[in-house]
Order: sequence, then C-alpha cells, then structure tokens
Amino acid sequence: MSDTTIKRISAWEALDSRGKPTVGCAVFLGGGAQGEATVPSGASTGRHEARELRDGGTRYSGNGVRTAVANATGALAAAVHGLDAIDQSAVDRALRDADGSADLGRLGANAVLAVSVATALAAADARGLPLYQAVAAADAAPLLPLPMVNIISGGAHAGRAIDVQDFLAVPLGAHTFAEAIEWCSRVRAGTAEVLADRGVPTALVADEGGLATTLPTNRSALDLLLDGISRAGLKPGDDVGIAIDIAATQFHTDGRYRLAAEDRELSATELVDELEQWCADYPIVSLEDALAEDDWAGWRHATERLGSRQLLGDDLFVTNASRLDRGLAEQIANAVLVKPNQIGTLHDARTVVDKAQGARYATVLSARSGETEDSWLADLAVGWRTGQIKVGSTTRSERTAKWNRLLRIEGELGERAEYAGAGAFAVR
Ligand code: PGA
Ligand code: ZN
Repeated sequence: MSDTTIKRISAWEALDSRGKPTVGCAVFLGGGAQGEATVPSGASTGRHEARELRDGGTRYSGNGVRTAVANATGALAAAVHGLDAIDQSAVDRALRDADGSADLGRLGANAVLAVSVATALAAADARGLPLYQAVAAADAAPLLPLPMVNIISGGAHAGRAIDVQDFLAVPLGAHTFAEAIEWCSRVRAGTAEVLADRGVPTALVADEGGLATTLPTNRSALDLLLDGISRAGLKPGDDVGIAIDIAATQFHTDGRYRLAAEDRELSATELVDELEQWCADYPIVSLEDALAEDDWAGWRHATERLGSRQLLGDDLFVTNASRLDRGLAEQIANAVLVKPNQIGTLHDARTVVDKAQGARYATVLSARSGETEDSWLADLAVGWRTGQIKVGSTTRSERTAKWNRLLRIEGELGERAEYAGAGAFAVR
C-alpha cells in the first residue's frame, strides 16, 4: 500500500442545512489518498455534549467558525502530522490530547470531529475500500439499519408548535432497507395528504424536513401520524410503528415538565403516567429522551414502567462512555442514540457503540438537526452494525444524502445485503 501517513490538512468554513457555519476539512496522505468531511450541528443540544467552538462577534450572529478552522489547520494538523491514518484510535487520541479539555471546547469539537472523519475517509481511500468496509471490525459483515423517519416535527426544530420534538415512522414489517424507505416516504406523503384534506398548508417543513404544523395537543400529532400511516395503505403497529423523541430536557425547568402547547405542568412521575397512556393508545415502539438529561431518578422510574418499549437515551448519554457506564450500572434505558459530534471523535463514538452492544442495549446512529450533504454517517451505521439509524425526513437533500447512500450500499451488496429490520430493537 502507498504511504498512509497524514501529510497535510486543509479546512474551511462551510454552511450547514440551517445556513449556519460549520467546519469542512480535507486530509491528505503521503501516497496521494484523501478524505473530506463537513460536520453537523445540533439545536436541542445536551448540556454534557462536546463543545463546538464559535467565533462570537457579529459575523453570522457570532456563529462563525474561523477560529475552529484555524485550529484544524494549526494545532490539530500539527498533532496528527506523520501519524498513520489507518490507526484511527491513535489519530483520535492525538486530537484529544492536543485539545486537552474534557469537552474539546478549547480547539473546538467541530474542528476535532472534522479532522477525525476526514482521516477515516482518507484511510478508506488509501485502502481502496468504501468507508463502511474500512470501519468494520475484522470479521463483521455489513448490516443495513432499520430507519426511523421523522414525519411530524415539534419542539426546538419547529418553533415549539408542539412540545414533543419528533414523531417518527418505524417500518417494522419491511423486509429490506429499500422497502423500509419506500414505506416511510409513503407515510410522509399520506400524512401530508391528511393535512391537505383539512386545509392545512404542508409546504413548510421543520429543520429535519418533518411536517411543521400547529396542533392543539401532542396526542393530536399521534392521531395525525396514525391517519397518515393508514392513508399510506399500511397497517399501524404491524407494518409501521411509531417512535417519539420527547426531548424532555427542552421543557424541563426546576424539576417540572412544562407542556406549553397544552398548558400543563407535570412531575416526572406524571409525565411517565402520560407516556404510559400514549403507549397504551398508540403503537409506540420507541421513546427517546422521555425524561430530562440529569433526571436519573425520573429515568429509573421510566425504565421500570416503560421498559417493554425501546427507551432511547440521547441527551441522557450524549454518546459519552462514562454516562453510559452509569446508565448500564443503574439499568437505566435500554438503547443509546449515537451522534459522533456529541463526543467529538469517531473512536469515542465507536467505543460507545461497542459498549452498548456488549450490554445488549440497542444502538441508533443519528444525524443532527443541522446537517450537511455528507453521507459518511450511513457508512458508519452499516460498518459498525448499529442496527438502527435516524436522520430526519425522507425530504431535503441533507437527509436524502444518507438514505441514498444506504440504498446504494444495499444495491451493491445485492444478495449479500443483510438488513436489521425490527430485530434491531433491544425490546419489542
Ligand atoms: P438536535 O436534535 O440535533 O437538534 O440535537 C436531534 C435529536 O434530538 O435527536
Ligand atoms: Zn433526541
């Protein structure tokens, strides 16, 4: 093989799907191979996430990333220069050491992740492998993930029209990834039709491409999704289940959960009662961030009461091995949302996937609400065998970039393609 050591890094300020600056980066190896990545950014971010570096000042309302870009080509490039790109963990360790802070906020988690991912892509290029093969464990076969697809949006992604952030379709009965995406696309169209019948405009979409509409209650969104599934000619519960991302951290203050759209304020126990009732009335198969990020007692109670469903920790675990360790020790939740930019390097995100799977927690690889046109996330899901993936709607190109990459991988694998399907749930 040609020289796979890191020779040069270039970086630039790019735009994400919300029109906010983000870091783009290219890594060049001695033998001529190269990789390029642009990183995503969240809006409903957890307090314990790795920290992006933003410039402040007036450019882009303070959101510029010129300092992060300078750090990528400066201190971070110096730290990894001459390292073998194929040794991802050594590269990621050098990046973390160069930053020196626990949350990577000194040089910027956005700069660190851009270098980390571009390095992985350069290493794959040097080996002549697609990324999903390059990141796979030695004897691991590729696995196409079960998608969960955003149909109706609320919370921080849709002007807080409703409290619950995402109402998603989970194509439980589909036999291939291609069939799964076709069903979800039909549910999206069916749900838009139901709204159009009511005279509600459907042209406005939220950050992740979901329908953003004003609804009187969270339950009315569940009713709408149920109607949308039926309108698509699919059977709720059998063909398509419902997942919700409550993103409860967003409406948690002073120990209380405030459902603004419904003008109600609940304790953790009352919120769990409410969710239990939703689960009894609707085919809900997965609940994400049912409680706030530091409400461990509430989460414990939720796990006791709702643990026969997939209970997914996003802000709770923030792709952080130490927080997951606590969850595993206290048997809280049963599934982990994995967002590489929550922790800052591919190696650390991979560690969380392996740890979760070792403990029989399900893993869901996830995009952010602010995304880019990159598709490497799709390859990570396949190569790491996460079993599930969440990237927003079946509309908007930053979302379809990931679905389209998965469709292509499934097509290329042909007969050899293994699809996770509903078996990917830790519990059902
Ligand atoms: P975020 O939302 O990217 O804005 O954090 C995604 C999620 O909460 O799952
Ligand atoms: Zn979430």
